[in-house]
Amino acid sequence: MQAFNFSTTAHLICASGAAAQLAQECAARGARNVLLVTDAGILRHNLLESILPGFSAAGVNLQVYSDVLADPAEELVLAATEQARAMGADLIVGFGGGSSMDTAKLVAYLAHPAQRQSLSDIYGVNQASGVRLPLIQVPTTAGTGSEVTPISIVTTATGKSGVVSQQLLPDLAILDAQLTVGLPGPVTAATGIDAMVHAIEAYTSKLRKNPISDLLAREALRLLSAHLERAVREPQDLEARQAMLLGACLAGQAFANAPVAAVHALAYPLGITFHLPHGLSNALVLNSVLAFNLPQAHSLYAELAPCVLGKRLLPGDAAAQLIEELHRLHEAVGLPMRLRDAGVTRESLPELARSAMQQQRLLVNNPRPVLEADALAIYTAAY
Ligand SMILES: [Fe+2]
Repeated sequence: MQAFNFSTTAHLICASGAAAQLAQECAARGARNVLLVTDAGILRHNLLESILPGFSAAGVNLQVYSDVLADPAEELVLAATEQARAMGADLIVGFGGGSSMDTAKLVAYLAHPAQRQSLSDIYGVNQASGVRLPLIQVPTTAGTGSEVTPISIVTTATGKSGVVSQQLLPDLAILDAQLTVGLPGPVTAATGIDAMVHAIEAYTSKLRKNPISDLLAREALRLLSAHLERAVREPQDLEARQAMLLGACLAGQAFANAPVAAVHALAYPLGITFHLPHGLSNALVLNSVLAFNLPQAHSLYAELAPCVLGKRLLPGDAAAQLIEELHRLHEAVGLPMRLRDAGVTRESLPELARSAMQQQRLLVNNPRPVLEADALAIYTAAY
């Protein structure tokens, strides 16, 4: 067996309604001043309603930073950090989608009173080496898995930069399906497919594929494929929602230790250039990337096929059935199917392919090497 290392968030609470315990969890960690990092939509949809009374009851001072935007910019991270410092925060909560949780990780690191590093010091892998404040994550979408990854993505003047460090791994994640019942269908669909991509890419990850990520990826795919359509069609179905949250969390644990590859590398330029949601960008290139990888990844895709198809798997080419089933799911959840349906222009494809080549951090994990001409062929097939 190849040597590997594996790390994840130390403590998970997976229960519908569990977010109501947030204040007690903060108090149990000795917190007196908590900054909760979120976005304006969370306030608008009253998602903090169930957790606020707990803070006054526990005598814990809570402030809310609610200006997080999608693809958080450096300035936003610094503003939230400033608020945490000004209030003397001793614990940070990320509450929302990937952008809020990614921001919270950096705030917990940068706002520690003993912190000597600044944001610009910690871009890259293992550059953040200091201490951070205790950190609790409460996801309100089932997709990014940010609650269990050591990664935070920030938008800088020159594009996107990542901070990857074990110091960013949260202490606790609370998976509460009641927070996700109001998610619109297209968001449920896109974030759910993003999570499935995390599991697939972790399972075929070239450099750090490992047996624990494999286990998690298979169970994640089983949960996600069995509940995605139900969660989209019946948004109030708490059982489907809880299964999606757990599936996304398991997929997050898988790819945090066996990193994602070409689907994500080709999705990022679509997000940057056309401002498509991350999950939709992934969905749009997924099938073309899988078809491209098939010669090298055939046996691994065949191993994943039963997780997605269950008893519907027929004798014959299991890998081909996996790709077909993912295509069917994409269509069934009502997302745009082709790049042109999502507003991507044909003329942009060569520039997208050039830009995808900058994602070498991800491309090195792909089962088949991807050159610029390959990326262009994949975008063209997906167009
Ligand atoms: Fe993703």
